[in-house]
Amino acid sequence: LPPTISHLLAHPPLPIHSTTVSGWIRSIRKQKNLAFAVITDGSAPQGLQVVFLKGLDLQKLTNGASVRVTGRLVQSPGSGQSHELLVDQADAGRVAVLGECNPDTYPIQKQELSIEHLRDNVHLRARTSHIAAMLRLRDRLQRQINSWFEEQGFCYANTPVITGNDAEGAGEAFRLAMVESQHPASASATPPAEFFSRPAFLTVSHQLHLEALATAISRVYTLSPCFRAEKSMTGRHLAEFWMLEAEWAFPADNGVHGVCDLTEALLKETTAPLLDSPDLRVLWKDGDAHKLKTLSDAVNSEKPWARMSYSEAIEELSKIHPSQNFVHTPVWGHALQSEHERWLAETLVGGPVFVTDYPASLKPFYMRLNSDERTVACFDLLVPHVGELIGGSVREERVELLSKKMEDVPGSEWYLDLRKYGGAPHAGFGMGFERLISWVSGVDNIRECIPMPRWAGRMLL
Ligand code: 4AD
Ligand code: MG
Repeated sequence: LPPTISHLLAHPPLPIHSTTVSGWIRSIRKQKNLAFAVITDGSAPQGLQVVFLKGLDLQKLTNGASVRVTGRLVQSPGSGQSHELLVDQADAGRVAVLGECNPDTYPIQKQELSIEHLRDNVHLRARTSHIAAMLRLRDRLQRQINSWFEEQGFCYANTPVITGNDAEGAGEAFRLAMVESQHPASASATPPAEFFSRPAFLTVSHQLHLEALATAISRVYTLSPCFRAEKSMTGRHLAEFWMLEAEWAFPADNGVHGVCDLTEALLKETTAPLLDSPDLRVLWKDGDAHKLKTLSDAVNSEKPWARMSYSEAIEELSKIHPSQNFVHTPVWGHALQSEHERWLAETLVGGPVFVTDYPASLKPFYMRLNSDERTVACFDLLVPHVGELIGGSVREERVELLSKKMEDVPGSEWYLDLRKYGGAPHAGFGMGFERLISWVSGVDNIRECIPMPRWAGRMLL
């Protein structure tokens, strides 16, 4: 493949060589004998300035058109860019319009476009510099995460998306159905049947399947799509999102704090190296300086992040409630609401905080019961401006306790087998990848942290 604009800017060829770039016109300014355009191929945040000298037919060069141009890459006299491409007919410069674009109807206009307009044009919005930067950030972060897990001896595993369980038991799973015309009943006299002879769902979490693999190859993780019929229409919930999930057997014996340690190291070591990336400079807005400082203080700090138990959190929240006037009164035994989570991270701590040891009644069956018999060895990591980023726990490995908790969970035998046959202490966590992108990029709504967001009432393509 020919070099991308990013390749060319990283290793600019000498101007004596003719250089060809292909991409889309992001902006163009035509003067009498001269035209300036910025061409982007999405490989770098900045695009390439192209200067068209006289004698070329520039009529079809409009915003959004796809072009291939050949010219000389020279150092730019302007301050906005290091290099620019000079295209001059006399110099055997060439311009080919590969795909025309009507500038009057093109939905991606040069002026700032509203978030809603871009969501309505989700098929074209990756042409904007923000969404393109988010796509590259997702890619970079995934690579960082993959090498981090590799160094820790984890194996990347592919778990199923179609499943028979609702791992979280929250009743938010999408159920699968066959398309009517392909239904075997319409072609034969066979009575209608489930394709799998049992109800099938899109997975809400890969945890349970990862546990089966962790109790065989010890350290596994996946970054995979999860699906939830979420009723909450917030900026932190999608119907299809990606979750980074890890499970490992034989943890160092320090209970839930060992799990917190691992996720803290993961986040610090994978995000800190990205903070000065040019894509983040595109994504952070001017008003975000304070957010950026809290983030960079957190991920660059050698000090461990704050930790408090759920009971301590409720105590702090109750103390402040009279002056803070939360909509929901903080009460032990009730879930923390997002207003509580945000106050803990943003106001009380001013950075990430692990809240540990929630009441067993609030959490799913798989979390390990503490010796007080009313809380479980779990945590939620709360971060400023996002709220809950990670949930994790030590897993219940004691088969008697677990089978009692799973009495009402259908099809749980295989999960109990993992304990019955060589059960091993193990732990794990799940992190919403779009929420991580939102935290790192300062982008408020996770609908702008995934290429094609889906939420209740919205699935355009
Ligand atoms: O807290 P959750 O529901 O935990 C689990 O699913 C565990 N089985 C994970 C595990 O231990 N392997 O989800 C984990 C994380 C949340 O902290 C949040 O970041 C993200 O997944 N998340 C969502 N992100 C976007 N849209 C949604 N609808 C989300 N629901 C959860
Ligand atoms: Mg959770």
